[in-house]
Amino acid sequence: MRFKRVLQEHLKFILEKEELEILPRGFQSIGSIMILKLDKRLLEKKILIGEACFKIYPYIKSIYLNLGIIKGQMRQPERIEFLMGVDQPIIIHKEHEVKYKLDITKIMFSKGNLKERKFLTTFVKPGEILVDMFAGIGYFSLPIAKHTKVAKIYSIELNPVSFHYLKENIILNHLENKIIPINGDCKVEVRKLSEAGIKADRIVMGVFPAPIEYIEDALTLTKEEGTTIHFEGVVDKYNYVDLFNTFSTIANNNGYLSNLTSERFVKSYGPNLAHVVLDIFVVKNKNHRSINFDI
Ligand SMILES: C[S@@+](CC[C@H](N)C(=O)[O-])C[C@H]1O[C@@H](n2cnc3c(N)ncnc32)[C@H](O)[C@@H]1O
Repeated sequence: MRFKRVLQEHLKFILEKEELEILPRGFQSIGSIMILKLDKRLLEKKILIGEACFKIYPYIKSIYLNLGIIKGQMRQPERIEFLMGVDQPIIIHKEHEVKYKLDITKIMFSKGNLKERKFLTTFVKPGEILVDMFAGIGYFSLPIAKHTKVAKIYSIELNPVSFHYLKENIILNHLENKIIPINGDCKVEVRKLSEAGIKADRIVMGVFPAPIEYIEDALTLTKEEGTTIHFEGVVDKYNYVDLFNTFSTIANNNGYLSNLTSERFVKSYGPNLAHVVLDIFVVKNKNHRSINFDI
C-alpha cells in the first residue's frame, strides 16, 4: 500500500483522480528488475508511471509489464513485455548463497517462497537421496544441494526452458556431483527411477494447485524404513486437513500408511486461499492386502 501512496504523490498533477485510484498497490522485483501489473485503463499512461517508478526506486534499472497471468501446469508467465530502462530479461538472482539464472519473461520466480526455499534445507540429513519431482530451475534442489550433505538429488523438470536453466544453474553453483537433472514428465520419470531400484529418503512435490495425481507415482519411491514427502498445495485458508486426508486416502489404497508430521503456511493466495506445505511421512503398510476384482 505504501508503494501506491508514494506513486500517487508523484503522479498527482499528472494523472486524473480516477487513474490515481487504480494505480497498483505493489510490484514484483527481482534484482534490479521491476515487474508491474497495471489496470488496463492505465496502459496509455504506462510511460509516465514507469518514469515515476524510476524516480522512487533509483536502484531499479529495468521495468517490465506483466500483461497476463502465470499459466498452466508449467507455471509460465503468459505475457511479460519490456517497458523501459535496460532490456535485459536474463538475470542471475542471488538468494541464500545460491545463484539462480533465469529469463523473467519465460519463468516465474516467487519471492513469497523464499522462506520455504531456506526452510526445506533444514530437514535434510547427511547421505539422503532426494527426488525433486517439479524442479523448475532448481528452486529447492539448488539450496538443498548447496547447504546440506545430501548424497544425490534427482531433479525432474518438464518445461524445456526451465530445464535449460536448471542445467545452467547446477553448473553455475558447482553442484554437478550432487544433482542429476532429468527432463521429462515426473509421472513417467519417477516410475523409471523406481524401476531402476532408486528409493528416496525425501521427495519434494512442489507444484500448484496440489500434485494429487502424482501421489501414486511418488509412493513407488518409498524406502523400507519410510520416506518423507513435502507436499505443496493451495487450500482454503484454515483447512489443510482435507488436503492431507486426500493424500492419506490415496496412500492407504496403495498400501502405505501416512503421518502428517508438520505443516507450514507459505503465503496467502488470494482472500481465502493459502499456499501450504505438508510434511508427510509414509511407510509401507505391512498388513495391507490388495483386492483384485477379477471376474
Ligand atoms: C514453478 S515450479 C514451483 C516451484 C516452487 N513450488 C515455487 O513456487 O518456488 C513447478 C515446476 O514444475 C514443472 N512441472 C509441472 N508439471 C510437471 C510434470 N508433470 N513433471 C515435471 N515437471 C513438471 C513446471 O514446469 C514448473 O517448472
